[in-house]
Parts: sequence; structure tokens; C-alpha cells
Amino acid sequence: MSANNLAAIAQAMVASGKGILAADESTGTIEKRFKSIGVECTEESRRGYRDMLFSSKGLGQFISGVILYDETLRQKSADGLPFGSLLEKNGILPGIKVDTGAKDLALCPGETVTEGLDNLPRRCAEYVKLGAKFAKWRAVITVGRDIPSTTCIAANAHALARYAAICQAAGLVPIVEPEVLMDGEHTIERCEEVTEWTLNAVYEALYLNRVTLEHSVLKPSMVISGKSCARQAGVGEVAERTVRTLRRTVPAAVAGITFLSGGQGDETATAHLNAMHKVGNLPWPLSFSYGRALQQPALKAWQGAAANVAAAQAALLHRARMNGLACRGRYSADAEKQPFVA
Ligand code: 13P
Repeated sequence: MSANNLAAIAQAMVASGKGILAADESTGTIEKRFKSIGVECTEESRRGYRDMLFSSKGLGQFISGVILYDETLRQKSADGLPFGSLLEKNGILPGIKVDTGAKDLALCPGETVTEGLDNLPRRCAEYVKLGAKFAKWRAVITVGRDIPSTTCIAANAHALARYAAICQAAGLVPIVEPEVLMDGEHTIERCEEVTEWTLNAVYEALYLNRVTLEHSVLKPSMVISGKSCARQAGVGEVAERTVRTLRRTVPAAVAGITFLSGGQGDETATAHLNAMHKVGNLPWPLSFSYGRALQQPALKAWQGAAANVAAAQAALLHRARMNGLACRGRYSADAEKQPFVA
């Protein structure tokens, strides 16, 4: 597969029964995750943790691609293999986060716009040389009193579309990630309204920026109750509303949709994805691109100790397999209880 065969890359990313592992935490974010298990955050501990994840035997059965952070794409496994090459050897596409983070949006209190467009063509060209096949950019939409504003949605949709066009010109498949945060007291109805609004703005901006939808992947949040909302919608309602919203806003030409987990519990994120497949009749492949919901059990099992690597890898493979089943609507409580057998 050539680096420029965007159609083949996009289709491989959403291959049936597989999803994406988001392991592109910035240094600040991975430090927070390490703090939760009492592990010091150094370049070597970050490398060791990612080495543990990526060298899990059989990961490629359920994982089509891994999103890396700049530092990680330049690091090597214990055997001296660059992480990108290690992943490719296991049939997994390496991807790269290219945004430089959500920054305060001027004159819009409580809202952010994601930055990183400066020098992006040059950075993308370098990432292609380093072996990256796809890229990611995350826009953040916060729901609260009088927000989101039209300003915030327009600014983020524009930046996502400029990013996606630059990636395609450079030979990378863009993952377009507009995350409507689940933090807050808002209802699921309000989440649905904001998600529909955001996705409409994103697809209008992608069109205006000449992005080829077949060579792109959408990474949305699910339509879900705010974390502090008194009424927490059940799995069936989340699935119905999410599928309805995506059908209303995402063209069938898009290569596929891979959800973020956004702070949902790992089993809940799997159950939601599974229930969407029960709704059925979906015009695009519907899969996962989870960070926390794939890594959390592995991180806990690892604890920074070499002796725990096998247990941590088993935990990752189990979650990856469960989500692979959910992509086909075949996840169940029984499957959840069966440990991974290589
Ligand atoms: P979570 O699944 O933990 O939300 O992470 C996905 C991601 O890549 C966020 O940008």
C-alpha cells in the first residue's frame, strides 16, 4: 500500500470487526494517567508503557490502527524497532495526532478552539516520511449555560476542515474529531441538539474546503447524558439517538465512523457501540477509536512493572476483542466474562 493510497488506507482503518487504539496522549495527559497508578512520567516510562501496548501479540486481529503522539512516533521498542514499524509488522497502521491542543477562544468565555494549522503542511510531510498513514485532530465543544456559541462551532469546524484538506494533500487520511464533551449537567436531548449542530457545521466546512469524504474518517462523541445530569439515559436510548443524529448529518460517502469514549466506563462504551449495531441498517462502518476505554484496564494491571506486562497485555487484548465483537453487534455479558486466549 503506498502512502498516497488514501482510499485503501481509509478502508483498512474501518475494516470489519476492527477499530483504532488512541494512544496519542500528550505528555501532560499521560502524566495524569501515570499519576493515577503512581508511576513517574519520564521519556523512558512513556516508551515502556507504549511498548507494552503495541507489542501485545494478536492486537492486529481487533485493531486496525494506532494513533501516536509526536514523541512516540520517534521512539523504538525494546528490540530497537521504531514503533511505526513494529505496528506495521503486526498489520496495524500507524497514525499521528497533529493538533497542538484546544486553546481559549478569544471573546468566548469557557470555550476553546483547537490550534495547530501553522506549519501543518511541513509537519505532515515529515510524518509521512516517518511512516504515518493517517492523522487526528480533536476539536472540543463544551456544553453549558449559553454555550456552545455559533462562534465556537464555526471556528472549530473551519480548523477541522483546513486540517483535513492539508492532510489529504500531504497523503494522510484525516480523522475528523469533533468532541461534544460529556462534562456538565445537560440532558441527552441537549447533547443531541449540539451534536447535530456541530456535525452539520463540520460537513459544510469539509465541503467548502474540498475534502474528499471517501478519504476521511469521522471520530464523534456519542449522544449521551451530561455526566452530572440527573437523568442518565440507558444504552438503548444512547444508541438510538446517536445513530439518528449521525444519519441526519454524516454523508454515506464518509469511509467510516470510529467513536471516542470520552470518559465513559470501558464496558459501557462497548455496550453502546454494540447497541448501535442492533439498530442496524447503517450506511457507514461504525467502530471505535477509544483511548481510555481500551487502555484503562491495561494501565491498572501494568503499574509500571515489567512483571505485570503479560497481565496488562491480556487486559488490552480482552477490551480490544470485546469492542471488535461490538462492531458486529455480537458483544454480550457472557463474552465479557471470557478471558482472552491467544
Ligand atoms: P477517549 O476514548 O479516552 O476519549 O480518547 C479518544 C481520543 O483520542 C481523544 O482525542
